[in-house]
Amino acid sequence: MSLSCAIKILRNTHSLLVISGSGISQESGIPTYGGDDGLYQDESRILCLDDLRHNRYKVWSAVNTMRRLMYDKKPNRAHEILALWEKNAVFSHFLLATQNIDNLHSEAGSNRVCEIHGNVWKLAQKKSQLYTESQEFSDELLLVNHPEYREDILKKWSEENGYDVWSDKQIFAAIPPDFEDNVRPHIHFFDEPYNSKLLWVDDFAKRKVNTVLVIGCSGKVNVVHRIIQRVKEYNPSTEIIDINCQKNDVVADIHLRGKATEILQLLGENLGDL
Ligand SMILES: NC(=O)c1ccc[n+]([C@@H]2O[C@H](COP(=O)([O-])OP(=O)(O)OC[C@H]3O[C@@H](n4cnc5c(N)ncnc54)[C@H](O)[C@@H]3O)[C@@H](O)[C@H]2O)c1
Repeated sequence: MSLSCAIKILRNTHSLLVISGSGISQESGIPTYGGDDGLYQDESRILCLDDLRHNRYKVWSAVNTMRRLMYDKKPNRAHEILALWEKNAVFSHFLLATQNIDNLHSEAGSNRVCEIHGNVWKLAQKKSQLYTESQEFSDELLLVNHPEYREDILKKWSEENGYDVWSDKQIFAAIPPDFEDNVRPHIHFFDEPYNSKLLWVDDFAKRKVNTVLVIGCSGKVNVVHRIIQRVKEYNPSTEIIDINCQKNDVVADIHLRGKATEILQLLGENLGDL
């Protein structure tokens, strides 16, 4: 019943906003935020702005730990179907706002991805305590993106920090030594304001969203409610569909209980264009 209602809603949707959380990557083998093996059960991975100022070792160790956990993980069918919806223009207007930092949506082929909590594989220049979306990397960091220089720079950083070079993905040394004052991880810290990171989502919401599809979010992180509230301000009749294998805190018109891959597959088959 809920599934058929969701299909009907999606068939009539012109503008779709997807909000994805750690549950969508769970089937790729990345632990979620909560749960017994949750990514943040270990407090040393909870990063605050104060750590950026006073505990750089904690910051870079946490980032590298997360990179080690994520580097060999691949997008699953749920990531793929969202990428196909975008590629095949199943919806006239489409935006994917993800809380995830694992880059799996982009790896699956999604382009219209707003990474509201940043990306564990990117670095940002720390112009102030906060960084903006238009941050520019320093010259040496830019060179890291050129395969012909990457090995040398990683090797240098690695030697200076006593780490091994990981060449299959850009896993950096614990602390990039020459940039201690102006480089920071791109990921969003726990006590950090969103500032411009929600601009794209807000701009999309302004043009009226018919449906919000929330996938694998517990709702414990307030930004999900904040985005839904914003969308409803612009269009009070927006329908909210929630996909989650468990009961959670997301207030929705329709709850589809099950694994993200299985439910997305069913929705995809019924919407066609897969
Ligand atoms: N993969 C990642 O990048 C990653 C992983 C862990 C945490 N985080 C960060 O931690 C925060 C977590 O908040 P959150 O709400 O995303 O996560 P959360 O852990 O609070 O909630 C995850 C939700 O996903 C559900 N879930 C688990 N497996 C699922 C599956 N296979 N299919 C459908 N639902 C499933 C759970 O029931 C839970 O409600 C985010 O801010 C994010 O930045 C990111």
